[in-house]
Amino acid sequence: MVADTIFSPSFGNRPSYLVGRETIIREFMHGLESEPGNRDRAMVLLGQRGSGKTVLLWELADRASASGFVVATPTVTSEGMLERIVEKIQEDGERYVKRRRTHLTGGTLGALGSSAGLEFGREVQETKSFQFKLAQLARKLTEHGHGILILVDELQANSNEIRQLVIAYQELVGERLNIALVMAGLPGAVSATLNDKVLTFLNRARKVSLPPLAISDVDAFYDQAFRKLGIHISSSLRLQSAQSTQGSPYLLQLIGHNIVLRASDGEVNEDVLEAATHAARVDFENDVCKTTLSALSEKDREFLTAMAQDDGLSAIGDIADRLDVTTDYAQKYRRRLIDAGVIQPAGRGKVEFAVPHLRDFLQKEL
Ligand SMILES: Nc1ncnc2c1ncn2[C@@H]1O[C@H](COP(=O)(O)OP(=O)(O)OP(=O)(O)O)[C@@H](O)[C@H]1O
Ligand SMILES: [Mg+2]
Repeated sequence: MVADTIFSPSFGNRPSYLVGRETIIREFMHGLESEPGNRDRAMVLLGQRGSGKTVLLWELADRASASGFVVATPTVTSEGMLERIVEKIQEDGERYVKRRRTHLTGGTLGALGSSAGLEFGREVQETKSFQFKLAQLARKLTEHGHGILILVDELQANSNEIRQLVIAYQELVGERLNIALVMAGLPGAVSATLNDKVLTFLNRARKVSLPPLAISDVDAFYDQAFRKLGIHISSSLRLQSAQSTQGSPYLLQLIGHNIVLRASDGEVNEDVLEAATHAARVDFENDVCKTTLSALSEKDREFLTAMAQDDGLSAIGDIADRLDVTTDYAQKYRRRLIDAGVIQPAGRGKVEFAVPHLRDFLQKEL
């Protein structure tokens, strides 16, 4: 049996190699080099489940850290998020701002105490707001020539924490402090009903939808990976497996891993490939299709089930007929599902599924 040292199909697991995200990373790093307040320094990554948001955030964290940024590694939107962000900045920033006696007392730096590096004095720690603490840290670090990058995962744009964070970010940008913010979430995160401050921010930020990986990139990666593992696969079967991923990073890991598990004598034939793609698909349906559907409303699901009756594209008119509703009404659901990234427009009056295997999964359930 071949030991799989390359594929790791599990959410949030850093892949051994990040396929096809070089352009996004490069553009972001370029933004970090630009002056504070540059639009590219506030980025919102949007993508379906399994599209690689979490691992991309960690990659950005590493790259920014290597180029001298103090990084608050990904924090999931939650109640304690803001305190965690402050702690992470303090922890990571200590390597630049040593705990030594500084002569920077009084004025705006007094809050950081005179000897404690990035630690706050007790009074500040207990009584001051997140905004205040973040501003103190940003001023001190900017003074030392280091920027701050804050990463947020599982963006919930209507949460109070995100609102606080966005307000703080804008204040610091106003002060021309060296700060950057990247938030990642499901495609629907931005179109939910939002309070105005967050909405304005999100509209101005650079929004990056994580596209499916190019099949040629997946194929090239499989080529290298199987070679390294000593697994032999013909180029046509390899291309076939790359195509079966439909450009989904999670499927890439699942299919790759299942091939390795089954290539007992290091050979991949058609049976191996078929068994591997089948096993991958069962996992994908459970982890992605099911969770995607369970996050939707009953009506949204009915719309999708009506779509699943078509083998190719679906016409809105047909779906409205099947649901026995007006076309206007169906349009409302079409819009919501597009915003949620579950379906996509496919030419005039038509839509198609945007999540791999979702149609088959719904058809099976019927
Ligand atoms: N660019 C990539 N190249 C190779 N593998 C990747 C890539 N992006 C993600 N993966 C793999 O895909 C899987 C899912 O990635 P990740 O957990 O980042 O997705 P996600 O978008 O955060 O999903 P969710 O919305 O459910 O949190 C992981 O196994 C990860 O290693
Ligand atoms: Mg994630």
